[in-house]
Amino acid sequence: MQTTATERRDDFGELRNYTDSKFQDRVERTYREMHTNQTLDFVTSNKQKYAALAHGTMDTYQVFKLLEEVHDESDPDNDLPQIVHAYQSAESICEFAMSGETELRADLDIKVLFKPSVWEALPQKWRDLYEQHTLKTLYSHITDWSWFPLLGFIHDLGKVMLLPKFGSLEQWAVVGDTYPVAAPFAASNVFYANSYYTDCADYSNYNIQTSSNFGKYPRNCGFDNVDMSWGHDEYVYEVMQQGSQICPEGLYLLRYHSFYPWHSPQNGVMAYTELASDFDWLMLPLLKAFQKADLYSKTPDLPPQDVLEAKYRKLLDRFIPQKQINW
Ligand SMILES: [Fe+2]
Ligand SMILES: [Fe+2]
Repeated sequence: MQTTATERRDDFGELRNYTDSKFQDRVERTYREMHTNQTLDFVTSNKQKYAALAHGTMDTYQVFKLLEEVHDESDPDNDLPQIVHAYQSAESICEFAMSGETELRADLDIKVLFKPSVWEALPQKWRDLYEQHTLKTLYSHITDWSWFPLLGFIHDLGKVMLLPKFGSLEQWAVVGDTYPVAAPFAASNVFYANSYYTDCADYSNYNIQTSSNFGKYPRNCGFDNVDMSWGHDEYVYEVMQQGSQICPEGLYLLRYHSFYPWHSPQNGVMAYTELASDFDWLMLPLLKAFQKADLYSKTPDLPPQDVLEAKYRKLLDRFIPQKQINW
């Protein structure tokens, strides 16, 4: 498979260019509409609608093929079809994180996943814990990691919500970074300076912080108790939670991989720590490792299409043994 030209890199350089990308207009429009239209009502009604998985019973590989028609208008760095991105992300995980088919590499230090300034600003308790571990020892209860590359392959399947069969949602309701709605809007969100969020109908109702609350939520309630802006993360999480045998850690990665203001903030300041639980802090290094593969710092030379297809079909068969699942 041809793997030409992608500019997309990880978050250690000038990457995720939101200031003068060649796709600036469509990227900015997507975020303007997102920050204006993602209300609590919008999120809860879509959550309910899509959790019913009433869009048909399909083989995941069939759904994957539909990505051929999907483009992500929030992506400032490339315009590749999503199908290429799926293979690249999956193969990046193999290259970056795996040693063989089931083992995680033993030498992945957690500290290197963070920008130095972000690392220094971490709460002492968590920095101390991360420092004592490699990725492998922090999650030593996971002994079989074969699902990890598969996640790279499926993580963006929720973008099919752009297609007629899956509801024809607008770009701003499917792609881009996610953030908690019904809560103060953090400066770590992209396009914060443009203040689009102040035009959201919810803005004045939930722009509150007290000793016990952050917006609508109790402090440190955990992201699983927060309503995130509606997008492709939550949909694929819901499908796989109901239809696959992927472990809870894997499902977590699907659900929060676009939560950039938390895991990889543009301005270097981790946001929404007010809502994070101990579990979210524990999952952060894994989310960072996944994010590095999603934004692959270099494009791996991909094996031929038929080899890739056989490899990921095999993983799908293992983790989705019933094959046909509800979407
Ligand atoms: Fe994504
Ligand atoms: Fe992605």
